[in-house]
Formats: sequence, structure tokens, C-alpha cells
Amino acid sequence: MDRQRKLYVRTYGCQMNVYDSERMAEAMGGQGYVSTDTPDDADMILLNTCHIREKAAEKVYSELGRFRGLKAANPELKIGVAGCVAQAEGAEILRRQPLVDLVVGPQSYHRLPELERQARAGTRALDTDFPAEDKFDRLAERPKAPRGPTAFLTVQEGCDKFCAFCVVPYTRGAEASRPAARVIAEARDLVARGVREITLLGQNVNAYHGAAPDGEWRLARLIRELAAIDGLERIRFTTSHPNDMDDDLIAAHGEVDKLMPYLHLPVQSGSDRVLKAMNRKHTAEGYLRLIERIRAARPDILISGDFIVGFPEETEADFAATMELVEAVEYGQCYSFKYSTRPGTPAAERAQVAEAEKDDRLHRLQALLGRQQRRVQDRMIGREVGVLFEKPGRAPGQMVGKSDHLHSVFVEAPVARGELARVRITGSAANSLAGTLA
Ligand code: 5AD
Ligand code: SF4
Repeated sequence: MDRQRKLYVRTYGCQMNVYDSERMAEAMGGQGYVSTDTPDDADMILLNTCHIREKAAEKVYSELGRFRGLKAANPELKIGVAGCVAQAEGAEILRRQPLVDLVVGPQSYHRLPELERQARAGTRALDTDFPAEDKFDRLAERPKAPRGPTAFLTVQEGCDKFCAFCVVPYTRGAEASRPAARVIAEARDLVARGVREITLLGQNVNAYHGAAPDGEWRLARLIRELAAIDGLERIRFTTSHPNDMDDDLIAAHGEVDKLMPYLHLPVQSGSDRVLKAMNRKHTAEGYLRLIERIRAARPDILISGDFIVGFPEETEADFAATMELVEAVEYGQCYSFKYSTRPGTPAAERAQVAEAEKDDRLHRLQALLGRQQRRVQDRMIGREVGVLFEKPGRAPGQMVGKSDHLHSVFVEAPVARGELARVRITGSAANSLAGTLA
């Protein structure tokens, strides 16, 4: 090879895909690839796909079709599909799209270099197995390049909950936790490279139960141990299931200073009838009591969540119960979606709610959530919060970072990237806060 090969990765969907894309780029770095941010001059294109909502597979096929010209111009170009669509569609992708050279599911990323070699040798490659080993350890040694102030760290993957609408148990497989020692080693390495805030990732992160020398650690124990790492200033985790919020994790929110006062705790619906049909295994009342206990442990915690409107057979009364629950919780930030049919999931077989009805409910829910978000933001005015600065703002002389509560905060001051400063909040706009250094 007379020049370095270029890898272009396009990432869709959740933060775990962002993390996985970084790991894949590092693994291919070990094979002599450097990253490029355009597909035009790439020798390998990887689509890291998401299957959670909408017509995901169709979008991937049309996206792939657009690379036809590039492949005609450069026959050496290899095209790969990774992520949850790769897992769900598997060999069908190779059948339907001749441009694709390799398909790799989320549990097989450690085999990517091998699959790439196979593709270069002229054999189209497929790996969508669910092996038992820790794929992140098998990915190439990380190059010790410096990193930005924040990083994701996957500690848990997969899910055994089988909510009736969700593809995750099928695409990411059974719930599995990485051993605690590996997580801690990776966290230390990140901190040594400049990271000050780590977000622990998992589809069901608070189900974490990693192997440790003295048995199994739950997430709270892992967080307490991570908090002992010098130089690591902030810890976050996402995404959690209400039924896995154990007592120690609730207590940790009041006891561990480095654990930030922000919790993403999806409830999906406020109707017990719908929650049951969703197979969520909790009630609206149980969720509200849980939020109360969390707020008792950490009064200023900002709660965020996910909602689905128009789940099969959802009535106007069910939707009204969702609006009531939202009123009761007062969310700082939320994601809300129209139910979208996922083939192969139980809810796909049920009577569907009319599209116009879904649109109308989503509109009403988002209006309420928007007002709450603004109210919670406005209440920050006058308060002093920690802000970890990440990048320059749009205006000259501006820097922007995330507050303890995960609000974007702008200041007009010469603070450095990676600096953690106390900021007094002076203003609130649509999706951000303004402040001055305290
Ligand atoms: N339709 C709509 N939203 C969904 N989500 C998951 N599956 C679906 C679906 N089939 C949402 C849930 C979940 C978030 C990640 O995506 O709210 O918490
Ligand atoms: Fe999907 Fe989350 Fe339910 Fe698991 S707990 S099935 S990831 S929505």
C-alpha cells in the first residue's frame, strides 16, 4: 500500500452508535486507515445504522444507492453496513445491494479488520453473530491520542426487557455487562488522555451487573469506584429502566459529588393499560413514587424521559393519563415519538392508531414538554452551576459547555476548552442558557 487508506464512518441513532463508530475507527486505524469526514475520497465507507424507528432499512438502501458513483470511480472502495440494521437485515443486505462488501452486527465489531481483509480479497463478508466475549477488549489497542473533555464509555449492552414496541432485544441481543476492571481501566485511560467527564452507556445501563473480584457490581458500586479516579470530574449514565433503579443507585445521587444531577428515566406512557400492553412491568404510580425518592436523594436533579404516543389501541383517555403524568413529574427535557411499527415485535400485530391521531397527540405532548423545559430552564436564572466548557460558541469570544444539569451554557469569557468553571446563570433561551463566570 503506497498511501494511507481513508475511512469514512457515518453514524445514525444513539450515543452507543457514536461510541461504537469511534471504536471501529480506532480498530481500522490499527490497519493503517485514517479517518476522513467525506465519503468522496474514502477507501472504505461504513454506515453505522439505527433501527429503532421509521423505515430504517429502506433509508439505508437508498443511502447506499448514492455511493454507486463513488464505487464506479474507485473500484477499490469498500462499503460496509454496521449497526442495528445490519443485525436485523443480515444477509438480505448483501442480496439486495451488490455495492455492499461487508455487513457487521454490533456484537462483531472486533472482527471488522478481518472482514475488511476478506472483502479486499474479493469475498463479501458477513458477521452478525452474538459471541460471548467482550468485543471492546478485542478491538485494536487504542492509539494514545489526546481526547476532548467528554467521552462515552459503554459498560452494558443489550436488553432482556422486551418492551412490546422495541427492536433492541433483537438487534443488540441479551443483556450483558462488561467486567468492572475493564471499565475502570478504560476510564483511567480516557482520563489520562484529557477526558474530564464520562457518560456510561448501555441500552439498559442501570441493569449493569459486571463481574468484579468480590462478586458482581451493580451500577452504583461501579460509579462509586469510578468517582475515586483523580482527574475524572463528572460521571453520567444513560439509558435507564425504572425497574432497575435500585436503592444504592438512588442513594448514590445524593452521595457521589461527581455523579451529575441529571437522570434520563423513560416511562413511555402514563396509562397503566398502555404500560401493561407495552410490557413495561411498572405502573404510572410506581414511576411517580420512584421519581419522588430520587428527588428526595437529590432535590435539584433534572429528570428527562422518553414518550411514545399512539401505541396500538391507545385511546384519548390513555393519552390524557400521559399528559397528567407529565404534569406531575415536570421534566427538564424529553424525547417523544409517534409509535412506529417494528416488524417482528409483538406490538406490530396489534390494531394501529390512525396517523392523524398520532400527529395530534404528539403535537399536544410536545407543546407541554416544551413549556416544562422552558420553565425548568428559567428557574436556573440566578443560580450558580458548574459548566464544563467544550467549544467556541457561534458569536466571537463566546464559549459553550454543559452545565451539571446538562443544559448548554454560553459565556462571553476567555475560558479554555476542558475548563470546569462555576457560572452564574443570567438568561434562558429556547435551548440554552447564558451566564457569567462566578
Ligand atoms: N416507535 C416509537 N418509538 C420507539 N422507541 C423505541 N421503539 C420505538 C418504536 N417502535 C423510543 C422509546 C425509547 C427510545 C429510545 O425510542 O421511547 O425509549
Ligand atoms: Fe427497548 Fe429499553 Fe424496553 Fe429494553 S427497556 S426493550 S431497550 S425500550
